Amino acid sequence: MCGIAGYIGDSPCEEILLQDLYKLEYRGYDSCGMALLCNKKIETIKAVGDISHLSSQIGGHDARIGIAHTRWATHGKCDICNCHPHLSMNGKWAVVHNGIIENFKEIKNTLLSKGYTFHSETDSEVIANSIQYHDKTTPIQAIIRAVRHMRGSFALAILNADNNKIYAAKRTSPLYVAHDGKCGYVTSDVATFIGKVAKYYRMEDNEFAIIDTQSVTFFNSSGQKITKELYSIGTEMELSSKGEYPYYMLKEIHDIPKALKNTYSHIKYSLDRTQLLKLLKGKKNIVFIGCGTAYHAGLHGAYYFEEIGYHTESFYASEFYYRKPRIDRTSVYILVSQSGETADTFACAKYIREHKGKIIAITNVPYCALNNLADMVVGTTAGKEYAVASTKAYNCQVIAMLTLAVIVKDIPVDYDRYIDRLQFDYDLPDITGYKKIFFIGRLADYITCMEGALKLKEITYINCSSIPAGELKHGTLSLIDDDTLTIAVCTNSDIFDKLRNNISEIRSRGGHVILITTLDDVDCDVDSIIRVARTSNEFDQISIIIPLQLLAYKTCITLGHDPDKPRNLAKSVTVE
Ligand code: AGP
Repeated sequence: MCGIAGYIGDSPCEEILLQDLYKLEYRGYDSCGMALLCNKKIETIKAVGDISHLSSQIGGHDARIGIAHTRWATHGKCDICNCHPHLSMNGKWAVVHNGIIENFKEIKNTLLSKGYTFHSETDSEVIANSIQYHDKTTPIQAIIRAVRHMRGSFALAILNADNNKIYAAKRTSPLYVAHDGKCGYVTSDVATFIGKVAKYYRMEDNEFAIIDTQSVTFFNSSGQKITKELYSIGTEMELSSKGEYPYYMLKEIHDIPKALKNTYSHIKYSLDRTQLLKLLKGKKNIVFIGCGTAYHAGLHGAYYFEEIGYHTESFYASEFYYRKPRIDRTSVYILVSQSGETADTFACAKYIREHKGKIIAITNVPYCALNNLADMVVGTTAGKEYAVASTKAYNCQVIAMLTLAVIVKDIPVDYDRYIDRLQFDYDLPDITGYKKIFFIGRLADYITCMEGALKLKEITYINCSSIPAGELKHGTLSLIDDDTLTIAVCTNSDIFDKLRNNISEIRSRGGHVILITTLDDVDCDVDSIIRVARTSNEFDQISIIIPLQLLAYKTCITLGHDPDKPRNLAKSVTVE
């Protein structure tokens, strides 16, 4: 959520920063900008919209030091005034910020009373003016003092007009630094380092850095120098590429078989079963926590673990955290997050940890804040996911939990043969004419409906929702008429008769129905049937979501939207 890049070195930096912003764009694309240090003067360039809008302003500056930002708006609308970088009142400081300063109003009022002026509605502008206010000794001391008064989260890259340096600071939001002896870099995503450096530093909370052309120096919050470990850029890091596909989302859907095989074999062959059993020893309850798609994957996990004898619960991370539940010694908490950065999920991890609960993190990145807090990390190794709408990561989260459950019970299975049966070539109907769409299913199919509905609304902006099929007659049936479409999902022959009754109640009221099923020979009055190759009871949920992901994609394209960058959203949601 929001992207930060910074460069200091011997090359003109505008194009370098622009290319970095393209790599960070999935984190936010409401507006973007750069601050460039040109002969002791900070120049800014800004644009509303995605990075392509900034490219026409590139090339006119002779700058070798600069910071850049792509924004997902939290405070203030998407206009030029609210676009980063923000300058201090005297123009000596430029700041790009990821995160939220929760007490910015208080700080702003104090600064206003001291004569400071502001030009934006953002929380971030107070950082620049606070630093100016505290600028009494050294630049790094000014930054340390300024953020000491701030509540909330931040990753900051900062320029000072009088110093040929980049300053960096971090609390909660991710930030990384690298140096090759001649050039220094700062970023909110290590992906921008690929092809530039082999090693990098991970900044921890309340750490600060000064980057110049020779080296990088780190400080703690008392201003003392600290030494930090270098990490290699893993081979799992990939450069962004859509390959032969027009959009990342379509590519990522087609990546599903490869991603599933990677995840399945990675867990099967590298997971330490003894450690897992030790973690589960004496535990009766498994609690699944996540947001959005990751929450849905957790719901499937709950089914799988229930089947092997555990009591299970599932929570949206944002609900779990504020409910402040008792952390139980007989529970294990499985936190699911593609990015491992999601603020709500991370807040739950901190809470569980503080209360001495045991955590298994299921993430799609080798390093992230969530992994740091976990007793055990299970990697989904799906490969980087760029499209905001999660697809392959979801399928991999589901197979990860299924594989965990079978490992616990030592059940011999071979999912590779099911993966080989996945289909991607469906004749999907045009559903763009509908203003109301419902997804219905029972048991695990209902979870797939939740995910199908989220995908469709996220990228098509069609109002749709998912309902347990049996619940229709308890209220939602009143919305059914001949303008509505219902998408019914069924993988379970034991409950098909009941689902058919629900479909018939919809048809009697003029509603249109598409049935998506893995069952053979179903006899049902619907507008169309999409048949999905049958695998096994558990694995069917991994295969039947694919036509729903493709239907969302197709509908989005037909409506003329960009599936990779849905409006108002961003990939990693690092604010609560
Ligand atoms: C999925 O399509 C969404 N974009 C969103 O619901 C996402 O799954 C959610 O924000 C959680 O992200 P995470 O897996 O990175 O924690």
